[in-house]
Amino acid sequence: MQPASEANQRIARISAHLHPPNLQMEESAGLRRANCRAKGAAPGFKVAILGAAGGIGQPLALLMKINPLVSVLHLYDVVNTPGVTADISHMDTGAVVRGFLGQPQLEEALVGMDLVIIPAGVPRKPGMTRDDLFKINAGIVRTLCEGIAKSCPKAIVNLISNPVNSTVPIAAEVFKKAGTYDPKRLLGVTTLDVVRANTFVAEVLGLDPREVDVPVVGGHAGVTILPLLSQVKPPCSFTPPEIDYLTSRIQNGGTEVVEAKAGAGSATLSMVSICFCEVC
Ligand SMILES: NC(=O)c1ccc[n+]([C@@H]2O[C@H](COP(=O)([O-])OP(=O)(O)OC[C@H]3O[C@@H](n4cnc5c(N)ncnc54)[C@H](O)[C@@H]3O)[C@@H](O)[C@H]2O)c1
Repeated sequence: MQPASEANQRIARISAHLHPPNLQMEESAGLRRANCRAKGAAPGFKVAILGAAGGIGQPLALLMKINPLVSVLHLYDVVNTPGVTADISHMDTGAVVRGFLGQPQLEEALVGMDLVIIPAGVPRKPGMTRDDLFKINAGIVRTLCEGIAKSCPKAIVNLISNPVNSTVPIAAEVFKKAGTYDPKRLLGVTTLDVVRANTFVAEVLGLDPREVDVPVVGGHAGVTILPLLSQVKPPCSFTPPEIDYLTSRIQNGGTEVVEAKAGAGSATLSMVSICFCEVC
């Protein structure tokens, strides 16, 4: 049995965390949230998702909420975070979820975070390359990284927003200017190219994708994606037509999804699974 004062302190701490200004809800006179027992506040990663209400952000928030290594989950976006936060927070897992809406709440969303994942920005539409997103997403990433440099300079930053080839250097410049740059803590999410390569190579070889490992180097856009087909494990060889087919399919995997999903929501769910695995 815990001493009463210790239990009260714990409840007060968690209750304060559960009461973001944008999530004030009508409470019945009989039972206030402050009087409820709450879970969470266990040791673990404190994770913020910036762009949490989007096609990538929402399923990513769900996966973070069921990740036992995450104790605190902050969901930030410029739209719709109250609804997404209310929804995700009802899941019966340990992470305490809190929502933040709009630029004035960015700082509060970031303070104390260990890991910041950024899927904020516009996605591609059919006919667009990732570079077409640069004008809008560069500014969004710069603003968000300025917030990170100020509020959680030691956090690991995981950049999903495209074009990753350019958003990562933008983030690096922001952190250098702020004196907080650590190359080991700034990551562009490109593992999707490896995942696609493993799947497509496994199809050609007739193997289980889980048994295939294809190294992919370079960047995360078109011809900058370089699958090293000579280094595939298990060792194997390909005919020239197979090499042409695989190289083209791996380099254009994102475009394949964007074109196929035209008009049906753009989120790349295979990418979300990677973020989950990387934190596990
Ligand atoms: N790295 C990868 O492997 C990979 C894979 C798929 C998609 N992406 C990229 O991820 C990004 C998001 O894709 P999506 O499908 O989720 O798009 P989306 O439009 O569904 O969601 C983007 C979210 O960002 C929010 N947002 C916009 N400006 C913001 C700001 N200033 N601060 C905070 N949030 C802001 C929007 O309100 C929206 O909720 C795109 O740039 C896309 O190209 C990257």
